[in-house]
Amino acid sequence: MTAVLLEVRGLTRAFGGIKAVDSLSFDALEGGITGLIGPNGAGKTTVFNLITGVYRPTAGTIRLAGESLTGRRPDDVVRTGVARTFQNIRLFARMTCLENVTTPILARASYGPVSAIFRTPAARSTERAAREKALAIMRALGIEGSASFQASNLPYGMQRKLEIARALACSPKLLLLDEPAAGMNDAETRELGETIKRVRADFGVTILLIEHHINLVLDICAHVVVMERGALLAHGAPADIRENGAVVEAYLGRRRERTS
Ligand SMILES: Nc1ncnc2c1ncn2[C@@H]1O[C@H](COP(=O)(O)OP(=O)(O)O)[C@@H](O)[C@H]1O
Ligand SMILES: [Mg+2]
Repeated sequence: MTAVLLEVRGLTRAFGGIKAVDSLSFDALEGGITGLIGPNGAGKTTVFNLITGVYRPTAGTIRLAGESLTGRRPDDVVRTGVARTFQNIRLFARMTCLENVTTPILARASYGPVSAIFRTPAARSTERAAREKALAIMRALGIEGSASFQASNLPYGMQRKLEIARALACSPKLLLLDEPAAGMNDAETRELGETIKRVRADFGVTILLIEHHINLVLDICAHVVVMERGALLAHGAPADIRENGAVVEAYLGRRRERTS
């Protein structure tokens, strides 16, 4: 039996009178890829903001491997083992790609400005280890060839992969991906799907994936959670979701209209 890594129960967050997330409960199984889908405004990104401590829940609980994350601060949540990417890319635009990935590694290694200035042998060996780890992560994502390029000069699809690399640099147990295929064409999206599967296997992470490319979700996720207006509309295996009339109407139907 597979263990539950992320357990969300009764999660609620109101903004003014509107419940962006409304009594939402779901699990993400350890080592699996769980999809989180729903129409625009359904509350998906707010769920990520609640898990990562950007917002405090109005009600409900969030647990990671049995440990409560509810109401914890963002830096504390990262240390507990959760890392994310953003719907709108947030890289250190002026740093190189490699620096974008080494920065979180060095932050975890309590490598401060004093070590950096005096460049003690210990600091140098910490830097070397961070660089090797960062390059290994970038290799897994197929972007190691861009290590020395400035992040803002990368093509869009590679910036999305660099964001995933930077999140992996935090050594998370749970990786939250917010629309990683946004702006990608079908071929790029399929290739990203392969990359996400490889990342899951190579790094042993559990993944929660928000994505509008519905075929990507149905292809690579073992379990799919569907939200509508903040609440759980349905959940199940991809085959069940495909056949679910309410989902087809609320999400897939609307999506088809919009893209046609
Ligand atoms: N900080 C905020 N203040 C007010 N309303 C918000 C805030 N964040 C999200 N919302 C609202 O919550 C709802 C869900 O948004 P969001 O989680 O971004 O949806 P999704 O990611 O599914 O498209 C939307 O109606 C949005 O306007
Ligand atoms: Mg969103």
